[in-house]
Amino acid sequence: MNYINKYTNISLLGAAGKMGSGIMALLAFEVGKLKIGAKREENFIINAIDVSPKALEGLLKYLKSQLLKYGEKNIVELREWYKNNASLVDNEEVINAYATDVMAMIKTSTRIETAYDSQLVFEAIKEDKALKVKLFSQIKQNNPDAWFLSNTSSIPLGEIDTEAGLNGDIVGFHFYNPPVIQKLLELIPVENINSDLLKLSEELAKSMRKVVVYSSDVAGFIGNGHFMRDALFALDQANGMTKDIKLADAIYRVDTVSRDLLLRPMGIYQLMDYVGVDVMCFILKSMQAAFPQEKLSHEILNKYIELGVTGGQYSDGSQKDGFFKYVKGKIVAVYNMDAKAYKDIEEVKIANADYFAPQPSVILDWKTVIREREREAMLAPFFKELKTLNSSAAKLAVAYGLKSKAIGQLLVDGGVAADTKAVNKVMETGFYHSYGPVNNYFE
Ligand SMILES: NC(=O)c1ccc[n+]([C@@H]2O[C@H](COP(=O)([O-])OP(=O)(O)OC[C@H]3O[C@@H](n4cnc5c(N)ncnc54)[C@H](O)[C@@H]3O)[C@@H](O)[C@H]2O)c1
Repeated sequence: MNYINKYTNISLLGAAGKMGSGIMALLAFEVGKLKIGAKREENFIINAIDVSPKALEGLLKYLKSQLLKYGEKNIVELREWYKNNASLVDNEEVINAYATDVMAMIKTSTRIETAYDSQLVFEAIKEDKALKVKLFSQIKQNNPDAWFLSNTSSIPLGEIDTEAGLNGDIVGFHFYNPPVIQKLLELIPVENINSDLLKLSEELAKSMRKVVVYSSDVAGFIGNGHFMRDALFALDQANGMTKDIKLADAIYRVDTVSRDLLLRPMGIYQLMDYVGVDVMCFILKSMQAAFPQEKLSHEILNKYIELGVTGGQYSDGSQKDGFFKYVKGKIVAVYNMDAKAYKDIEEVKIANADYFAPQPSVILDWKTVIREREREAMLAPFFKELKTLNSSAAKLAVAYGLKSKAIGQLLVDGGVAADTKAVNKVMETGFYHSYGPVNNYFE
């Protein structure tokens, strides 16, 4: 099947959101390749649909800046595309012409009806099944040929398919944040997927140069299936410590262990702040319905929601305060629930120094490990020593490593991931872990 016609009119719902704006940029690059690169004669339209007109204005500025960046990075290709246009001499002129030509194909709209003409409907609205079902079924009723590519983080696509009457014309096309930079894409076919849609999704992901990992259509998929359970473990650990110490100290300890001793790019509480406690609760709610035998919620998360201390990000991508307070992305304080105020991180660090003593003889960090090609040679001795260290922090790190592995195995045994390699790839590529959770370091 020739899919070009599918691209002539595409829509993205939730285009001005955090994920939507990045996906919009990627779609603009793809349509640019077809119209300008491949010199297709067809007219192409990309509809950026969002309920917020103000956010759509901001989106256009963001897209222009992304197109200029793309142009700079791909100048050799762009010069080839525009070689017959003698009026474009400097690189800057070529890049500007490219950005202007692609921007001319982008239309903004606050009306869902705009998507009725689209063959491909991408979606990145908030994580609300009823809303996704409502919008998809409305579009499908008015445009039976529409195919849907949803960025849902956790909602089973099969349920959306059935409830919206899509007959297999839907796929989970799950980008990671930020979509332009993150390499991972989880591809989630519904059981009865239209095979042409699957083929188109695979080709599109390849053209976007994404690393594709297939996940079964089970709430949370692989990435959140691991992250959410990993976070719940961290919440349980901190909760358990509150018999002896304050929650703020407990959070600092668990976060530091997960970053510095497990050699992750950020601690688990910082990651929860990055995602947002409210978003986590939406995801956990979707997963709870699919796993009634597990407890997929946490009283600490509920308390932080009640207090309105939820983390997440501002529209410019900067970090909102949550478990931690941030200045220019750096942790400066930890939230103290009793005082309902933040406590200086340096004070907390000094007060908890004993928990981390004795330290490993060789201090490693994530940045050093991630640059190394032969990581095994660095990781194996580090974790070997960790298992012998007589510190509370080292003991927690080992227990945490084992739990992380058990979660990975659970995803394979439960049929969410095809194998442990898929789990490791998601955590290494989508979460930048320096090693996959299913390993033999902690036994
Ligand atoms: N944020 C992440 O890290 C992340 C990562 C992967 C997947 N996701 C998923 O992507 C989706 C979007 O998440 P987000 O973080 O970008 O949310 P967001 O709140 O930043 O963006 C949602 C956008 O949808 C718009 N919107 C709301 N109702 C709408 C409607 N009826 N029609 C059109 N637009 C509407 C909002 O105005 C907003 O611009 C969710 O399904 C989420 O689970 C998020």
